[in-house]
Amino acid sequence: MSELPLFRSIKPVEAGFKPDAEIVIFSGDVSEFVAQVPDNSVALVVTSPPYNLGKEYESRVSIEQYLKTQSQLIAQLYRILREDGSICWQVGNFVENGEIYPLDILYYPIFKELGIKLRNRIIWKFGHGLHASKRFSGRYETILWFTKSDNYIFNLDAVRVPAKYPGKRHFKGPNKGKPSGNPLGKNPSDVWEILVQDWEELVWDIPNVKSNHPEKTVHPCQFPIELVERCVLALTNTGDWVFDPYMGVGSSLIAALMHDRRAMGCEREAAYVEIAHKRVLDYFNGTLRYRPMGRPVYQPTGKEKVSQVPEEWKEPSQVRLLEQRGEYE
Ligand SMILES: C[S@@+](CC[C@H](N)C(=O)[O-])C[C@H]1O[C@@H](n2cnc3c(N)ncnc32)[C@H](O)[C@@H]1O
Repeated sequence: MSELPLFRSIKPVEAGFKPDAEIVIFSGDVSEFVAQVPDNSVALVVTSPPYNLGKEYESRVSIEQYLKTQSQLIAQLYRILREDGSICWQVGNFVENGEIYPLDILYYPIFKELGIKLRNRIIWKFGHGLHASKRFSGRYETILWFTKSDNYIFNLDAVRVPAKYPGKRHFKGPNKGKPSGNPLGKNPSDVWEILVQDWEELVWDIPNVKSNHPEKTVHPCQFPIELVERCVLALTNTGDWVFDPYMGVGSSLIAALMHDRRAMGCEREAAYVEIAHKRVLDYFNGTLRYRPMGRPVYQPTGKEKVSQVPEEWKEPSQVRLLEQRGEYE
């Protein structure tokens, strides 16, 4: 768990779009809000849309109907996106009768039809989730990163990560003997390991580990602030508008504000809107609970009680798998 230490001066939150606003939180349907936003004004649209899974905030419809509604919204998002702007569309699977429909595959043609270009299909990999019994357990979702044109913002240096082997050197050629990496760190690649739980905080006896993430609210499907921070830093500049059309409890808005971008979002459920307001206020007051960007993922040492194979499983059991594993993977 971490709290932001500094008190910041509180900025006003507008309830509808205003060109000179810093923060906009719209309570209502996204189609109503997006009509207020001028053409070519937003640098980054970043969101995790409803997956049509029948969660408490959505009514499930046919996959065709779902995609039709989404394509109407996406056309509007394209309209408000700046020429140098980006869309980051974070999705997982729609599941019906045990069959999975990867939503990114279904969304791709909708974006492509608008002429926007896919720059990365980012894998967001996490360590925990439901244990499937009739298929392999799902441990990733994706972020489709599209740009409106070929002339787009990409601040790679703002999101570099430490190199695994910074001491590596060129072993031949004119640079022989010189460090071969980048002193600012390496490109974070298109596979992002960002936790949905905070293992350092984990009380091993509590089964619902998700509730241990410091950012967890009552919302059933939040994404971590740090996931959005990387998109904000890489794909926008200070003062730019960042828009989350399905903001939930405001995670994207906080990521934008943390890096001095302007933030706007809309949400249909009044309870989530209220939490988003509170989290924004907590951010300004320095009391927001969040997991800082780039904190290393906890690696079990093997000595924790939960890493030990239970006595009653010793034969036959996972001991066999552990013995086969050897020292290095
Ligand atoms: C997957 S959640 C996003 C959660 C968010 N990323 C967060 O971290 O809190 C999708 C959100 O979209 C909202 N939503 C669904 N349909 C909407 C619509 N037509 N207009 C506005 N919000 C909508 C849902 O209530 C839900 O909170």
